[in-house]
Amino acid sequence: FAFTPENQRWAEAQLTKYPEGRQASAIIALLWRAQEQEGWLTRPAIEHIAEMLGMAYIRALEVATFYFMFQLQPVGSVAHIQICGTTSCMICGAEDLVGVCKEKIAKRPHEISEDGKLSWEEVECLGACSNAPMAQIGKDYYEDLTAEGLSEMIDRFRAGEVPTPGSAIGRFASEPA
Ligand code: FES
Repeated sequence: FAFTPENQRWAEAQLTKYPEGRQASAIIALLWRAQEQEGWLTRPAIEHIAEMLGMAYIRALEVATFYFMFQLQPVGSVAHIQICGTTSCMICGAEDLVGVCKEKIAKRPHEISEDGKLSWEEVECLGACSNAPMAQIGKDYYEDLTAEGLSEMIDRFRAGEVPTPGSAIGRFASEPA
């Protein structure tokens, strides 16, 4: 693994943000950049980052495995859909959303669709409970989802479009009633 020259310059700049001997603090930023570059975190990528930060591979792996925003296996080339399955979302229909993913992407979580474009998994609470049910795709939150809405979104991702993130019904949790 190697960062692209641009990403390598960016990664080295991150290291200067921390006091001498504390470069390991940049781990999440570097892991995220590697994932953006490769689509997922390969072992060589984690090893490379650990070496850059002067930390043991196992320490870097501990971080990469702790957060579910990091993918340790290949994902769909266009979108990896993370459906929240925790209480609020479960009560509001997360199971239906998982059903759509099983039907339109692949039967099992982390399995990649036949066209290579999509994958999905169920994750724990993403902190957008008031707009349940919801899903995270890349850096974006898609909220107040319905099975029909998610189904259409999947079609649009497949067609190369990026559906507008946010609440499907336009509500904002912080907005006064
Ligand atoms: Fe789904 Fe919190 S329960 S975002």
